[in-house]
Amino acid sequence: MSKVKTSFFCQNCGTQHAQWMGKCSNCGEWNTIVEEVISKNDNNSFWKEDKVSLIEPLDKISIKVEPRIETNDKELNRVLGGGIVLGSLVLIGGDPGVGKSTLMLQVAINLSKKTLYVTGEESKRQIKMRADRLAVENSSCHILTETNVQNIFSSTKKLNPELIIIDSIQTLQTSLIDSSPGSISQIRTCASEIMTFAKHTNIPIFLIGHINKDGNIAGPKVLEHMVDVVLQFEGDRNNVYRILRSNKNRFGSTAELGIYEMLSTGLREVENPSEILISQKDSDLSGTAISATIEGLRPLMIEAQALVSSAVYGTPQRSATGFDLRRLSMLLAVLEKRCGFKLGSKDVFLNITGGIKVDDPAIDLGVVCAILSSNYDIAIDEKTCFAAEVGLSGEIRPVNRCEQRIHEAEKLGFKQIFISKYNKITPKNCSIQIISVSKIEEVFKTIFS
Ligand code: TYD
Ligand code: MG
Repeated sequence: MSKVKTSFFCQNCGTQHAQWMGKCSNCGEWNTIVEEVISKNDNNSFWKEDKVSLIEPLDKISIKVEPRIETNDKELNRVLGGGIVLGSLVLIGGDPGVGKSTLMLQVAINLSKKTLYVTGEESKRQIKMRADRLAVENSSCHILTETNVQNIFSSTKKLNPELIIIDSIQTLQTSLIDSSPGSISQIRTCASEIMTFAKHTNIPIFLIGHINKDGNIAGPKVLEHMVDVVLQFEGDRNNVYRILRSNKNRFGSTAELGIYEMLSTGLREVENPSEILISQKDSDLSGTAISATIEGLRPLMIEAQALVSSAVYGTPQRSATGFDLRRLSMLLAVLEKRCGFKLGSKDVFLNITGGIKVDDPAIDLGVVCAILSSNYDIAIDEKTCFAAEVGLSGEIRPVNRCEQRIHEAEKLGFKQIFISKYNKITPKNCSIQIISVSKIEEVFKTIFS
């Protein structure tokens, strides 16, 4: 073992403890104590040889555009902000079986540069079998099965690749500390060693990460702070479409997303994403409206379905799935009182498709339009979407991050979006028509007449 001193620190208050404890004796938080390296001998860190960091005046630092490697995958290039930046560390997370390894292997194989795919999860044969499915030949992609970070570094030195992919960070371990692979302190220490390595050698590195059941990348949050880019690969295992998003990007926008289709021969880039929505929708169905909402950081298009029918029993029923029932009652009251739509004697059922629960008020207008569409049995054009809140006096209120919503709608092939007149945005060469409205009646006239 190398001579490494470790100690235990509370992640909440930073107190140093001599040993691990379940509860921090200083701040009282549970499960926040983690082992950290406090001094290590650097003999096995070959890349640090005699590198002493230079101090430079700010105005002497050159701001040339960072050199980037363009991959064959246009979706990935776009999500990364125009290719892989040299020396960057990219973390890609996603559910098991979503296709992270497939995506990364595809990138490694299709790149006409020397690449190294390090796997701690699968054998070389398994990787070869996957590569055969992808049906691309490439002799410059190399495979290494290894989980020890220091060994990976020394193998890298021999090969000198231009891109490294590590599958996955949870299987790695460093000889600097004793805890088992996948533990918080191992993940942290390995990631920081890899980060230093990437910055010193200028080799871009992709780390594949598992996610926990809440959908966050397993391991400490600090992992996400450390890396340059955090990508999320998501999709339903029963559905062939996959979405690649960036949750953090030091070199580009996080609003971009890439869409793929999982085929038996690997992932295909979906260049025209509207094909996904169109193929699944029947254009003459009334009672559906699509809204551009934001889930956490991510823009998302969701569909609201409404059914309005005459009440059979005395008291009309109101039911909502995935949407707040009280908010639905409020919207119905606004429609009745402020806009004169007679819905008081009607049953109203509302459903947000896909089993999602939405709290974002920006879907109000979409919900209202779905209800009116069902009430009058007039279908809304499938290329129309909405992003606005409805106020108590029937006014259309502005929503936050409107440009991001518009951009998402545009990306997904929508032709028009209704937003509030009070959302001050300056659309730059958009292919989507932006309709600014201030009252529900205006929307009603535009859509249903
Ligand atoms: P994988 O990349 O192993 O997922 P992850 O690394 O995220 O756990 O992909 C697993 C799924 O992808 C698996 O269920 C089979 C499917 N798949 C295809 O449909 N086509 C293909 O060409 C490949 C390689 C995998
Ligand atoms: Mg995998």
